[in-house]
Amino acid sequence: MSRSADNGIERTEFSLPEEAKTPSPLSPSPELSAGQVPGDSDVEGSLRPKTLEEFIGQRKVRAQLDLVLGGARARGVSPDHVLLAGPPGLGKTTMAMIIAQELGTSLRMTSGPALERAGDLAAMLSNLMEGDVLFIDEIHRIARPAEEMLYMAMEDFRVDVIVGKGPGATSIPIEIAPFTLVGATTRAGMLTGPLRDRFGFTAQMEFYDVADLTEVVTRTAGILDVDITPEAAREVASRSRGTPRIANRLLRRVRDFADVNTAGEVTLAVAREALVVFDVDDLGLDRLDRGVLDALVRGHGGGPVGVSTLALAVGEEPSTVEEVCEPYLVRAGMIARTPRGRVATARAWRHMGLTAPPEAPGE
Ligand SMILES: Nc1ncnc2c1ncn2[C@@H]1O[C@H](COP(=O)(O)OP(=O)(O)OP(=O)(O)O)[C@@H](O)[C@H]1O
Ligand SMILES: [Mg+2]
Repeated sequence: MSRSADNGIERTEFSLPEEAKTPSPLSPSPELSAGQVPGDSDVEGSLRPKTLEEFIGQRKVRAQLDLVLGGARARGVSPDHVLLAGPPGLGKTTMAMIIAQELGTSLRMTSGPALERAGDLAAMLSNLMEGDVLFIDEIHRIARPAEEMLYMAMEDFRVDVIVGKGPGATSIPIEIAPFTLVGATTRAGMLTGPLRDRFGFTAQMEFYDVADLTEVVTRTAGILDVDITPEAAREVASRSRGTPRIANRLLRRVRDFADVNTAGEVTLAVAREALVVFDVDDLGLDRLDRGVLDALVRGHGGGPVGVSTLALAVGEEPSTVEEVCEPYLVRAGMIARTPRGRVATARAWRHMGLTAPPEAPGE
């Protein structure tokens, strides 16, 4: 059956997180933020791996998904609903596309903030065909009424649409074709219990190690026709904060630098020089990361300090600090989360060129 491109679903667009729209003085240049920025989608599309096989890293998630999808295929049914959780730029959207691709079905995309009213979701659900994958990005930002409708759809493949208001309102049940919901979230903790419980499988995406990111950089260089030495690829990878989106962007900036300043080949020296120009330090931290560390260390004696105080100090939304900066700073052993707030580790003090006080955690 052919599907009309006019049912409104294909055209649903992702909305950018607020923080991407309002740069603060400390905001990293867009190249360096893990979040998606305007203009990304064109390039990212061409760089996305298309199959589970092609997907680099995330071995555990891949193996688990392989079983979930394989099992469903063997039984000839739609697989359980899948939740993809993890920081920005690790491949959640890519993975959602791969899931549909591996199942040989079509993918319908929307995002939590776009589903403001239950009616928006009802329209989308009733357009699904059997076996379709419905991808809801930023699912933790879905509005309450839509979320409640989603519970029922996920469990019983049916929704009740309320028509009218007050005592005269009636509820009309609508059947929905069996589908697979793939939700993506950078804040799994913000999902309500009932919603989380309805996912049969949660894939926790982790930061990539340098070896995997080197593979990502090398693969992207091949696609973009960038001449890069293995050492330079590794250098870019090691400064990408465990994030393929950043690796791909840094590679593009390094290529720009090489195109302008050298014969074109990206050597280790060229890569290093370019990364300095783009304000990426040797750990891959950008201006915003360093701003947060600076506020913590110099401004608040190493903490403990609340995330909203830190956000205020760097002129960002608390959610940006929490979702974009903090996960990697924690993983890099720079910040510890304690019940009383964020604390700088000895490593953070040293990274900021200071001597750590004895009470700083770490070592
Ligand atoms: N495993 C991977 N191998 C190669 N490239 C990858 C991999 N994972 C992600 N990428 C690349 O990184 C970029 C960002 O990935 P993606 O958009 O899937 O991230 P995301 O987790 O959905 O981010 P967000 O939370 O901001 O929506 C894409 O260009 C994609 O090609
Ligand atoms: Mg995404």
